[in-house]
Amino acid sequence: MFAKCFGRRPRWTAAAPGRVNLIGEHTDYNDGFVLPMAIERYTTVAGDRNTKREVTLHSVTTGETASFSVRSKVQRGEPSWSNYVRGVVAGFQERGLKISGFDAVIDSTVPFGGGVSSSAALEVATATLLESIADEKLDPIEKALLCQRAEHQFAGVPCGIMDQFTSVLAQPDHALLLDCRSRTATPVSMTDPAITVLIINSNVRHKLVDGVYASRRNQCESAARILKVAALRDATLESLSDARDKMDAVVFRRARHVITENERTLEVARLIQSANWPKVGELMYASHTSLRDDYQVSCRELDTIVEIAQSMGEREGIVGCRMTGAGFGGCAVSLVRTEAVKVVARKIGESYENKTGSMPTIFSTRPAGGARMIFQGKSVS
Ligand code: GLA
Repeated sequence: MFAKCFGRRPRWTAAAPGRVNLIGEHTDYNDGFVLPMAIERYTTVAGDRNTKREVTLHSVTTGETASFSVRSKVQRGEPSWSNYVRGVVAGFQERGLKISGFDAVIDSTVPFGGGVSSSAALEVATATLLESIADEKLDPIEKALLCQRAEHQFAGVPCGIMDQFTSVLAQPDHALLLDCRSRTATPVSMTDPAITVLIINSNVRHKLVDGVYASRRNQCESAARILKVAALRDATLESLSDARDKMDAVVFRRARHVITENERTLEVARLIQSANWPKVGELMYASHTSLRDDYQVSCRELDTIVEIAQSMGEREGIVGCRMTGAGFGGCAVSLVRTEAVKVVARKIGESYENKTGSMPTIFSTRPAGGARMIFQGKSVS
């Protein structure tokens, strides 16, 4: 595609994965714990420097081409997907790194808008390409933070660090127990051949998502202020219940979700290591219930998937299931007994279609590695 658009071969191709979060939802921006893994779906950015001080991007997914100048500080612009790239280029400029003009073609197998971090995959793939263009390797955590800033400033979503961190630092065959305060990750082996990670994409995306995300974040911050802690990570159910009269009932429930979800996440990381799958499953369902009732970021379609999974249960090979990502549509993640995966996927698909009238997309994945350069050609200049 690059050759077709630009009449020469790309010099580099960078790839960055999407992610699925096994548990620990809406805890990252509360300095808490998350347990994501990268999925075997990638965004690739093939590129080469050009001789102008201009960036030209072509998206295979949308068929659109975008251009912007790098003569001065890059700004937001159109089309909207180009902002993920613009934001990362601006981050490199802010760090004083010289970004020449370049041409790039973006392609992706990460479902867009599915709660599996297609935007982080694009940011991180871009940053990986820019490391070569600028001839400067960033520290991995700094790279994740630079991409997170792009999301804040150029896409307007005040996200936590989970998605970008996972896309940069994921390890094959492992989930990462990430402490979002210290930004340290403990790899958790996911090599039990008896268990397969199955992702069920509801294929719906409700519009609410960005505004609600910011409002949840504000509610958490106001709970932390009332509890006089730096972040909800430092609160306990006890301290929360002592302060019940001082806070709005909704803020109370938001905080209860975050506190209990942090506990579940640490517990699940331990239970995976001892292959206690039934208990892992229970906690995944509990996480979903808490996101549905206390945090209120689920939706009918995601609840339907989880209800179907729960009613099939261990008997039919389903260990656990929950919504994953920001919510209001997108995907559910399920752990399934490997020998039952095909039948489970077919049954969930049929049942979901009967109940909602629309088709889910279902795929399994192993934990993938983080971003890397997958092609590095010879310099021709
Ligand atoms: C989005 C954000 C993450 C995280 C999740 C919810 O994916 O980008 O930082 O907050 O939602 O867990």
